[in-house]
Amino acid sequence: MADPFSLDDFLAEDHKKIDEYLIFLVRALEKNSADAARPLQTMAERLDHHMEWEEKVLFPAVPPSPRLASRHVESLTIDHERIRRVMNELASAISHRQFSEACHAADDLRVFLQGHNRDEEYGIYVEADRVLGASERRRMAESFGRAP
Ligand SMILES: [Fe+2]
Ligand SMILES: [Fe+2]
Repeated sequence: MADPFSLDDFLAEDHKKIDEYLIFLVRALEKNSADAARPLQTMAERLDHHMEWEEKVLFPAVPPSPRLASRHVESLTIDHERIRRVMNELASAISHRQFSEACHAADDLRVFLQGHNRDEEYGIYVEADRVLGASERRRMAESFGRAP
């Protein structure tokens, strides 16, 4: 039987965890709470690691094909830059205790992540499961788990 380990499932699970941190963060912001700093830091670390690993390990490992245009990977990388910019806006608003600006930035981030994650989960992650061997998929997941 083929090894059922799926990078799509593994990485979609990390998307879900990042979404959960964002929900904690929004709850803190809605209370105009300085407690937002902690969920912000946790989410930022996790999201930075996720995107950096995708750019350094995943994207280069999956070759362009008729099912996966190189444009798709370029647009994912452009999304990452946009996500990083909004994360910086969010961090700056929180550090200046500008909670309504921070709520706007968090909402932008939620929308960007939703579209981006869907593109990955129905695009490059599926292709990675299709073209990479089982041991390669497992090795990559192990490299994800190591410290950023
Ligand atoms: Fe990504
Ligand atoms: Fe991702």
